[in-house]
Amino acid sequence: MEINNLKEKFTEIYGVENEFSFLSPGRINLIGEHIDYNGGLVFPCALDFGTYALVKVRDDNQLNFASTNFDLKVSCDLDNLVYKEEDDWANYPKGVIKIMLDKNYKAKGMDILISGNIPNGAGLSSSASLEVLIGVIVNNLFNEGKIDRVELVKIAQQAENEFVGVNCGVMDQFAVGMGKKDKAILLDCNSLSYKYADVKLLDYDIVIMNTNKRRALNESKYNERRTECEEALKIIQKEKQVDNLCKLTPVEFDKLEYLFKDEKIKNRAKHSVYENDRVISAFDSLNKGQLEEFGRLLIESHDSLKNLYEVTGKELDTLVEEALKVEGCIGARMTGAGFGGCAIALVKKDKIEEFTEKVKKTYAGRIGYEPSFYFSGIGEGTHQIFETNKVSLEKTV
Ligand code: GLA
Repeated sequence: MEINNLKEKFTEIYGVENEFSFLSPGRINLIGEHIDYNGGLVFPCALDFGTYALVKVRDDNQLNFASTNFDLKVSCDLDNLVYKEEDDWANYPKGVIKIMLDKNYKAKGMDILISGNIPNGAGLSSSASLEVLIGVIVNNLFNEGKIDRVELVKIAQQAENEFVGVNCGVMDQFAVGMGKKDKAILLDCNSLSYKYADVKLLDYDIVIMNTNKRRALNESKYNERRTECEEALKIIQKEKQVDNLCKLTPVEFDKLEYLFKDEKIKNRAKHSVYENDRVISAFDSLNKGQLEEFGRLLIESHDSLKNLYEVTGKELDTLVEEALKVEGCIGARMTGAGFGGCAIALVKKDKIEEFTEKVKKTYAGRIGYEPSFYFSGIGEGTHQIFETNKVSLEKTV
């Protein structure tokens, strides 16, 4: 949909013209999976497609939410923001505004139209994209843009943890809010210190592959994995005082492995420690342009998520397996929470067409339906769109 069509849609729904427009990206994580909540390093980047919002400020305290992606429209009062199951997607914006008000930031009533290009439940952070989007709207329109971006990122995460009830780490909101064009973010999730890294893929590109198996994070085993990691940390702490699993090096972990009686808990911890180490190596190899090595680390990461952390499943494993069989693909792994959703593959640019054709066929042959492929540059974090910017909403995924 072109921005003009979206503007028309806004007028159709609300009977007035919108005043402001915003865009918030989705994200992929290059490597460092399921360790943001273990104080680890992650390496995500923002996509160049995401979620749009058109906004008109109201004179009263009413919040109206509509979306081109869902039929459900929700209206509520700024003074009474409570989680309601039936409000479905609108709980994300409600949660962010509620937390901002609780922190004494200012907000007013608004008419909002959301339009997202990120497939829901595909592991590309459609919810974080929406959360940070709302945070930036409230910041720019009512708080003179003075709220620090990392504070907005934390508010968005808090909304998901406390209002929606998904115990996610900070990676997604950080990638969405802090993304920079053509850069990946090396983020230490313990201290929230970060640095940007150029993503120089030389003759290669990243292909995003969707299993098309829907994943619902709050119904998934996500929270269970977090609990298992807490259990693992307690076991380690009997011998070594560390605040989180990712403080350990692989060598230190190997020496303490004997402490674990339960193989499953040991495996969860092992994944976390080794994955953290892989992020450091991956950052290094990308910097040096050693893409074969970078690709090898992606493969190792997927194997660990499959065998030790057990968050992949038949669809993701098949997709990665089939991708790696194609000439020109030097690395592939699931990205995000797993249990379905998306994987990424590092593929030689001149082989991409052949790659998608082959993977489409072989995956469909084994799973029964086709995967989808998305191509995205690395985009900017959440921002306001000023009318002079010629932005097309046509960027389909
Ligand atoms: C989801 C969560 C993130 C992170 C990833 C796994 O995307 O929202 O915080 O834990 O899963 O790396």
